[in-house]
Amino acid sequence: MTTRIRLGVNIDHVATIRNARGGDHPDPVAAAELAVVAGADGITAHLREDRRHIRDDDLVRLMAALTVPLNLEMAATEEMLAIALAHGPAAVCIVPEKRAERTTEGGLDVLGNQPGLRPFVERLAARGARVSLFIEPDKGQIEAAAAIGAAVVELHTGRYAHLTGDAAAAEVARLATGAALAAARGLEVHAGHGLTFANVGAVAAIPEVAELNIGHFLIGEAVFTGLADAIHAMRAAIDAARG
Ligand code: PXP
Repeated sequence: MTTRIRLGVNIDHVATIRNARGGDHPDPVAAAELAVVAGADGITAHLREDRRHIRDDDLVRLMAALTVPLNLEMAATEEMLAIALAHGPAAVCIVPEKRAERTTEGGLDVLGNQPGLRPFVERLAARGARVSLFIEPDKGQIEAAAAIGAAVVELHTGRYAHLTGDAAAAEVARLATGAALAAARGLEVHAGHGLTFANVGAVAAIPEVAELNIGHFLIGEAVFTGLADAIHAMRAAIDAARG
């Protein structure tokens, strides 16, 4: 069992607030540096095709400023591949991206697009990135991720985050089964999307989960308590679930 889960803090929504007024405040890079001081093990940022979160110059500044690994989330497009290869982030998470979606909906269809995705995985890995694929905890998707040479799968917890009671418990079981299968196939297991203080424990308790990537809730909570306190409390909730 991985005893200590790494916490990746996603700073996209600091950029969302900045972008609402078109200026340079609040600065997502300053937030990332603060998150690291507060205990983030990595920083995650999604450079979207429409640049609604971080922008190209944020990526340049993140690469220069960070003392922890940057996990760049990106769609499998030639434009994003060229950017990732130019900057060389420590990790890349390939995500599905639809222009009209409010956030990343559903996982990547690796099973249905193995020939298309394999070159992305290979070229990013050759550049030194630890490549992860953001997928549903589905047997076929996990097997396909292993088959095309990904090092990591990030299991999509968005569905779980919207459920309660027995339905949530059933989805946790699906995540746990998926995590065990992924680990058996030699994949490192990450998880994320929609996680909060209230729901993180069940995911953190899955023994194969090595990293959680959390953004929207932490940035929202920072309005009330400050980002450092929000990160400390999330860290405590994760550690408590690990026992
Ligand atoms: N992991 C991935 C792959 C994501 O796309 C996102 C959302 O950008 C997250 C984690 C974080 O989700 P949330 O902002 O809901 O915590």
